[in-house]
Amino acid sequence: MNSSEIRKKFIGFYTARGHVEIPSAPLVPANDPTTLFVSAGMQPLIRNILGEPHPLGKRLVNSQKAVRLQDIEEVGDNRHTTFFEMLGNWSFGDYFKKEQLPWVFAYLTGELGLDPHKLFVSVFAGNGAVPKDTESIRIWKDIFARAGIDAGEGERVFAYPAKNNWWSRAGEPDRMPAGEPGGPDSEVFYDFGQELRLHERSPYNGQPCHPNCDCGRYLEIANSVFMQYQKQADGSLSELSQKNVDFGGGLERQVAAANGTPDVFDTDLFRPVIRVLERAAKRTYGREEHDTRAMRIIADHVRGAVMMLSDGVGPSNKQQGYILRRLIRRALLYGRELGLSGDWRYVGTLAEPVAEIYDAVYPEVRARMRDTKAILEEEAVRFGRSLEKGLHEIEKLSEINGQTAFTLYETYGFPWEMTVEIAEGKGQHPDRRRFEEEFEKHKALSRTAAAGMFRGGLADQGEETTKLHTAHHLLLAALQQAIDPSIRQRGSNITAERLRMDFNFGRKLTPDELSRVENLVNDTIRENLPVTRVEMDRAEAETIGAQMEFGHKYPDRVSVYYVGSPEHFFSAEFCGGPHVAFTGRLGHFTIQKEESAGAGIRRMYARLTPAASGN
Ligand code: GLY
Repeated sequence: MNSSEIRKKFIGFYTARGHVEIPSAPLVPANDPTTLFVSAGMQPLIRNILGEPHPLGKRLVNSQKAVRLQDIEEVGDNRHTTFFEMLGNWSFGDYFKKEQLPWVFAYLTGELGLDPHKLFVSVFAGNGAVPKDTESIRIWKDIFARAGIDAGEGERVFAYPAKNNWWSRAGEPDRMPAGEPGGPDSEVFYDFGQELRLHERSPYNGQPCHPNCDCGRYLEIANSVFMQYQKQADGSLSELSQKNVDFGGGLERQVAAANGTPDVFDTDLFRPVIRVLERAAKRTYGREEHDTRAMRIIADHVRGAVMMLSDGVGPSNKQQGYILRRLIRRALLYGRELGLSGDWRYVGTLAEPVAEIYDAVYPEVRARMRDTKAILEEEAVRFGRSLEKGLHEIEKLSEINGQTAFTLYETYGFPWEMTVEIAEGKGQHPDRRRFEEEFEKHKALSRTAAAGMFRGGLADQGEETTKLHTAHHLLLAALQQAIDPSIRQRGSNITAERLRMDFNFGRKLTPDELSRVENLVNDTIRENLPVTRVEMDRAEAETIGAQMEFGHKYPDRVSVYYVGSPEHFFSAEFCGGPHVAFTGRLGHFTIQKEESAGAGIRRMYARLTPAASGN
């Protein structure tokens, strides 16, 4: 069974049970500066989990493109990836545990054909504030009993603490910011292991083996989160106004389980890339452990980079662009370990099969392949040059110790083994322990940085961000009305301090044009127009000319924000909000900067100041 079939089966299973399919949101979250990439299917649906009705109802299903960066150093084993697809289904205050868990089981055993004897499940063991999930234990026991399996606790059903069986975007309850929703979850693991028995000590880490021990025998393939709580400012958890189900299952892992391979890289979601890599490197996947690990890292990073580029991210030294750059560089360094260097543009040929993998579901990957390849190749050549420079620097060093080896890793990305080779050539023996200590510190720091990027919850719907979001709509309409009606938004980013908008336009705007745009926005603010949200069919929204985000796919029913009245509006945009109720609340609008952001694309920064000081 290939990935397209499994994606289709999942969507079909849930649409047959009253769910409406929604398209995958782009990888970069719209108007949410608190997080770099969408990392779970629920992320674009936070407001619905908190109680806002979704235009398509209470039951949704989709396959969402996602990126998780916390695991970047783990990539290379059989199951960790940076980019992945998450199959998701949601109940917003509709069905709950007694429907969800039997459906998960029916889907895994019926649609994917997994042997129920190989499924193990976990539930939340409880903490001081939230009790043990005995209801899920009872439901699982019934489900397994109907399949003729006696599901004893500690044998097939396991209760784990919050570290394992509580889910929110921030993790365990203690880490959740005020306003953040979360809840206990119930995970399903597929058992691949023949060589280990339950509770036997794992040869990998010496711990007794059980579904959550991460020794590689069990693979988590399904997670039903019972989103029922919200963190309060005083640190307590209170019940949300509705009980939600938020299910996430990694497509890559389900494809692996359905095909009986514990290796997600040995599936149709990676094989086409690995085949090209094998030919380029003249090595065989699965033969030598070192080569296999390098091939997994390269295939993962190239696939991730292609998906980011297809969603409009470009390499840079900041934010998403920095992550993209890091993926490309890491891929090239591991390519070097396979003997691939010199003509660094080979990375472009690895990108092509990614389009083939996603033709049916993400046609934008093929549509943008020419640009994607060109950017990858340019980036690779540039990195190649800096690598040469790095090698030159090493040659000049009088001493290479563990600390220097780490600095070389951090600055140029040189892996330990390479550096050691050069050091030994000079008769020096850097201390590996020191290198590893520095490396561990670095890992902890990048985890903290990834967590720091996430403020989550209601933080991203703060007052200033909300005002700038409305100002963003005014700016786009003003650019079209004062400069050129064919201007379209090509990217956006809003923080509490300023807004940034990218749009198509062939040249620099003149000072006179900039003040025309600024004046039009400020006039509209002074008119104190109402901002209203209206739900409608996508086709209708298109007919009235509502602005869409470039490259974004919208569901059949959408919400549109009008500035002005629906009969006579200054601006209408496909948008999930939030917005101020009247434009008069925005204060004074100032354009701070206008610059190029690539061929044919301009970038504008603007801010709001209180009206009294600004006017
Ligand atoms: N939102 C559920 C998960 O990511 O597992």
